[in-house]
Amino acid sequence: MRAVVYQGPFSVAVEEVPDPEIKHPNDVIVKITSSCICGSDLHMYEGRTAAEPGIVFGHENMGVIEDVGSAVKTLSVGDRVVMPFNVGCGFCKNCQRGFTGFCLTVNPGFAGGAYGYVAMGPWVGGQAEYIQVPYADFNCLPLPSGDAFEWDFSLLADIFPTGYHGAELADVSPGESVAVWGAGPVGLMATYSCIIRGAAEVYTIDHVQERLDMAGDIGGIPINFDVGDPVEQIRDMRGGDGVDKTIDAVGYQAAAQGSSAAGGEQTEIPNVVLNQMIDLINPTGIMGIPGLYVPSDPGGVDEGAKRGSLAINFGKLFEKGLKLGTGQCNVKQYNAYLRDLIISGKATPSFVVSHEVPLDDAVDAYHKFDQRIDGYTKVILKP
Ligand SMILES: NC(=O)c1ccc[n+]([C@@H]2O[C@H](COP(=O)([O-])OP(=O)(O)OC[C@H]3O[C@@H](n4cnc5c(N)ncnc54)[C@H](O)[C@@H]3O)[C@@H](O)[C@H]2O)c1
Ligand SMILES: [Zn+2]
Ligand SMILES: [Zn+2]
Repeated sequence: MRAVVYQGPFSVAVEEVPDPEIKHPNDVIVKITSSCICGSDLHMYEGRTAAEPGIVFGHENMGVIEDVGSAVKTLSVGDRVVMPFNVGCGFCKNCQRGFTGFCLTVNPGFAGGAYGYVAMGPWVGGQAEYIQVPYADFNCLPLPSGDAFEWDFSLLADIFPTGYHGAELADVSPGESVAVWGAGPVGLMATYSCIIRGAAEVYTIDHVQERLDMAGDIGGIPINFDVGDPVEQIRDMRGGDGVDKTIDAVGYQAAAQGSSAAGGEQTEIPNVVLNQMIDLINPTGIMGIPGLYVPSDPGGVDEGAKRGSLAINFGKLFEKGLKLGTGQCNVKQYNAYLRDLIISGKATPSFVVSHEVPLDDAVDAYHKFDQRIDGYTKVILKP
């Protein structure tokens, strides 16, 4: 089959790779109908992880079941399904408590597995024609048959639940004020989730204008950090007050004010978002951090950053009595509920999708999404 294969920094290719097979009686093979490119793929694409050439990318996968193993109980050939980006077993100590992003079975020696991702186990990615899904009864979310809501449902594999996870980590509640750093797909989904959860005001910070416009269209208050310090801008708008909750949907590759929004030279300050969050939030607030931080970054800006060691204002955090939550989203905790919000018409996350392109155009799509040019916000690949 054809698949998107990592070649090295800033290079992918669409190549022939072996077809996946049923290796265990609880596996299924899914014929991919949609697989999205994620900001998390860009960390690997840019050579900012330990990813080696040869990885098949793709952890945001949906499709139709092509083949089922003999022990599969709840799924049949022809069923339409979307898979959480996390691979979970369903029976380990962490899966049993709902922490499927930290499964102890699927990636021995490590808590957590995913498709097509460095250090996340042997699971081949789905930016391809087919994918093998292990523990399939657990890892497939059934969808209504047909092709309705294809874009919305494809976002259930990662970014809609992950944005929601940011709001959950920060315990965003009705009437609260929230600031979300990042208007990439995850930040937009976090903004949207805060609004769904009844937040009164949601400020969304970025410097890519198309993305800020999308945040404004769904009821967020766009803040461009190239215009000035976002903390000062938000305090000015609020008569000096901070906010109840903050969400980091940027992660360790955070750009400095004034670095190029689209392509061009980027100046990174890996701790800038965390420290701005601590600065803006009101005492006793909660910070949700779905944005990714890594323990090892070959391209880190200094020796500390190379080993994931960042200077954050812990004294201020303590003085304010803040709480924070981090980590991979446990997609399975939310995806059935978010699916039902889509089906009932109460959520339409597909507003974030900017491009749908054939799998064979993946090379161009990666380049443009990475450069954040031509409005490439969220790209769906169609095999
Ligand atoms: N926790 C999880 O399970 C999980 C899942 C998916 C993605 N992620 C992570 O979430 C983050 C966002 O993902 P995405 O797909 O939206 O990525 P993205 O790269 O498309 O979006 C990041 C956005 O942040 C903006 N940004 C950069 N510096 C900033 C700053 N200083 N202040 C405000 N905004 C800034 C960028 O302009 C960009 O629009 C990534 O780190 C990704 O790895 C985590
Ligand atoms: Zn993703
Ligand atoms: Zn498990």
